[in-house]
Amino acid sequence: MSKEPERGAPPVFDEFDSPLARQLEALRLRRKKLKAATMPAPAETRIIAVSNQKGGVGKTTSTVNLAAAFALNGMRVLVIDIDPQGNASSALGVNTNSDVPGTYETILKDLPMAEAIVRSTSIENLYCCPATLALASAEIELFPLDDGQTRLRKSLYEFLNISAKNGHGFDYVLIDCPPSLSMLTMNAFSAAKEILVPMQTEYYALEGLEQLVRSIYAFSSRLTHPPKLSTILLTMFDKRLNLAQDVVEDVRTHFPKETLETTIPRSVRISEAPSFQQTIMTYDPNGVGAVAYREAALEIARRGA
Ligand SMILES: Nc1ncnc2c1ncn2[C@@H]1O[C@H](COP(=O)(O)OP(=O)(O)OP(=O)(O)O)[C@@H](O)[C@H]1O
Ligand SMILES: [Mg+2]
Repeated sequence: MSKEPERGAPPVFDEFDSPLARQLEALRLRRKKLKAATMPAPAETRIIAVSNQKGGVGKTTSTVNLAAAFALNGMRVLVIDIDPQGNASSALGVNTNSDVPGTYETILKDLPMAEAIVRSTSIENLYCCPATLALASAEIELFPLDDGQTRLRKSLYEFLNISAKNGHGFDYVLIDCPPSLSMLTMNAFSAAKEILVPMQTEYYALEGLEQLVRSIYAFSSRLTHPPKLSTILLTMFDKRLNLAQDVVEDVRTHFPKETLETTIPRSVRISEAPSFQQTIMTYDPNGVGAVAYREAALEIARRGA
């Protein structure tokens, strides 16, 4: 017969069965699974525009962290920053002063892309074509040009062909778009084969998404090679909110093929990383944010394989 606890005895704290311990154990298992997984390389370069006309939904965060996750798996990755805000470039620790050449010069001044591309100093195989302040005027300058919608495509394809011939082909190109369906976004769409839409897990998400998908198709139908909406990534997910869970289910029901199983949690560490010019992969490599972005990258790689 078990003995009754004495009156006034301290409560038993089972450190192996607290919610925190369970969370840490779940995270450890996810890391173990990722370590054992191999990421398939695509047969040809996957060119993905990361776009959502809504601001602040996680486009830049997803671009740089997915790019870093691909690169850490041995993929050769190029990030093209086509947003005049230059957030992707600075998150990758790349100079965005107007005196360095960047995406602007490659699309408007016929500068070969190779001359604008900068290598990441912290992650091997990761490259960036930066957005500098000059890009702010590109919109107006592109507008009157006959080929104003396809200049990025031309410059990127030339660069990729030369790289492949030299034996340094790229596996992924991720293009961080501005929060608008503008001439710059049109350039990203004309260069891309796929569109990845990050969306915040919030109440009006599905409504906004259906509208977004319609605009993306209307917008890209004007192009000779329209990209395909291949991927929807739910970001800033808060599992404590029932609403967030409902939103995920709704989006999955309406877009079953496109929506990734992986969701990206809301995490302070993810939002802190850019101010240290880092991706979450080096800022907090073992945390839940890095694990989630690595899982998302693996899923994207496997779906495309
Ligand atoms: N999973 C996350 N958890 C917490 N904060 C996040 C997360 N993802 C992004 N953020 C933060 O939310 C803000 C918006 O993210 P981000 O810049 O990636 O969005 P965006 O869609 O690129 O914005 P814009 O439309 O201005 O280009 C940033 O401050 C970022 O650090
Ligand atoms: Mg952005």
